[in-house]
Amino acid sequence: MCGIIGCISNKPVAGMLLDGLKRLEYRGYDSAGLVVLENGVFRWEKTAGKIKDLEELLQGQTFSGTIGIGHTRWATHGSPSTCNAHPFFSCDNSVAVVHNGIIENYHQLRQELVRKKHRFQSETDTEVVVHLVEDYLKAGYKPIEAVRQVCRRLNGSFALVFMFTNHPNLLIGARLNSPLVVGIGRKEVFLASDVPAFLRNTRRVVYLHDRQIVALAQAGLRQKGKQTLHIIDFAGKKQSYHISQVRWNIQSAEKEGYAHFMLKEIEEQPEAVRRTVNYPHLSVLEPFTERLRDINRVILVACGTAWHACLATKYAMEELVRIPTEAILGSEFRYALPPLDKKTLVIAVSQSGETADTLAAVRAAKEHGVFSLAVCNVVGSTLTREVDLTLYTFAGPEISVASTKAYTAQLSVLALLTIRLAAIRKTITRNMEDKLLDELRQLPNKMKTVLRNKKIIEACAEAYKRVGNFMYIGRRNNLATAYEGALKMKEISYTHAEGYGAGEMKHGPLALVDGSFPTVAVILKDCVYEKMVSNIREIKARGGIVIAVATKGDKNISEIADWVIETPQVLEITSPILAAIPMQLLAYYTAVKKGREIDQPRNLAKSVTVE
Ligand code: F6R
Repeated sequence: MCGIIGCISNKPVAGMLLDGLKRLEYRGYDSAGLVVLENGVFRWEKTAGKIKDLEELLQGQTFSGTIGIGHTRWATHGSPSTCNAHPFFSCDNSVAVVHNGIIENYHQLRQELVRKKHRFQSETDTEVVVHLVEDYLKAGYKPIEAVRQVCRRLNGSFALVFMFTNHPNLLIGARLNSPLVVGIGRKEVFLASDVPAFLRNTRRVVYLHDRQIVALAQAGLRQKGKQTLHIIDFAGKKQSYHISQVRWNIQSAEKEGYAHFMLKEIEEQPEAVRRTVNYPHLSVLEPFTERLRDINRVILVACGTAWHACLATKYAMEELVRIPTEAILGSEFRYALPPLDKKTLVIAVSQSGETADTLAAVRAAKEHGVFSLAVCNVVGSTLTREVDLTLYTFAGPEISVASTKAYTAQLSVLALLTIRLAAIRKTITRNMEDKLLDELRQLPNKMKTVLRNKKIIEACAEAYKRVGNFMYIGRRNNLATAYEGALKMKEISYTHAEGYGAGEMKHGPLALVDGSFPTVAVILKDCVYEKMVSNIREIKARGGIVIAVATKGDKNISEIADWVIETPQVLEITSPILAAIPMQLLAYYTAVKKGREIDQPRNLAKSVTVE
């Protein structure tokens, strides 16, 4: 949601800013802009639309500025338009700002500034920030102090980056509940919403914490080691920092010949799962063994696809660990707090680690003394800093807005955790533990088999690309697969799709079924197989179309269903991981055939950093 890139270099930065913005496109946006400092004045361009529109504006112009900031905006306050696009400037054009987040008290601040005769150019919440900084600078504050004073007055969430005409070698960034990362290259320093924005130039990063302000300068650009990085908190106290090395490389964040990131990420799943189920990762649990033995309730919390991973896990957790387990939506949690105490284990699941509702849920839970664990894909993200312990998914960067490899990696690490908890609490035998772990180890190869179904899935997408509605049904842990399949179909193909408990069909939705209505049914050889067969027969008896995701060699289903997509036989704990793949591919090919923007569906953002 909004992308920020700032850079100081020894050469012109406009190209690097544009490249950085392109690498942040996955976050979702509807306008873009950038500014550089040249001969003491700001030169900027901004526009509604896509980065290519901004590029068109820049074509034929030469920018020599060696410091600049760029932004992609996902509209919240004010429509996507050129005047609402960032950057914004102070009345005297000496300060520029870009922002990700929401300034909740902007209305009062704007009224105060209008009374002081500040002139506003946009309808956004952001613009108050730059006028406030201008006031503090005029009152004699140094830039970092002016920013600090302003940050203390802002409510809401923000990642902000400022530049100043009077300080041509200074970028200031500040964050509260929105991500901001420093990149330290040999010849450049960066501030960005996410690492891919500068990964081409450096893998050395400093993850800023909430309530921190960073001043980045690069004195004597040609001399090595003269970059300066100075961090304070909102109280003005100097902060120490740690430089981390990003493990993945720029290729992981590039399409590498695939038509879309989504297809590349679907294909990467066997490898992502293989990395994730590497048993030694669980050693981080060891110091907490006693505490984990003592818990009497598990709450899984997340949003969207990550919540589906939670829902699928609930069943294995209750069955294998014998602990009451709930999967709660992050957006509901705060407003309907379940009973929580120090014997509750709260597991927050998030690809980005920046989802506002998931973070708020964790914070609310922690107030009740719970033991908190994150399942997260992004090292150094806010979530990983809020919890007692993190289990990482090793999916690599997920660029497509629609989550695929992060989902199956989440399911795998949650399965691994479930098995470990069951072993710690002795609710499974050693033999059973070995059998389950072995199953996880074999999973990547089985996933590769499911990926070979592309042709039949593409044909199926071709056959139904014009239908207006899909139903997805499943039971137990594959009810989550049905929800996930419907979500994927909605978000990238813009076709209405609904996930439903198969047994619930006759309580209402069966009325929808006719000869042109397709239902995708997850029917695997598990304990609800016979029940699913009956549910499919009910649909067929009413002339409905059935696309079955079924176990390889299931002749019974081939006779009943119109289409069968086969998956290898697996244990129940891992079946949602395999069954997710046909769901992703069906949505993908339907969206391709409908000519949709696969990697950046309309109205959506990759990382939802506002409530
Ligand atoms: C759907 C999708 C979203 C995310 C949700 C949570 O394909 O990607 O539903 O799963 O916004 O995001 P994270 O996992 O970053 O917390």
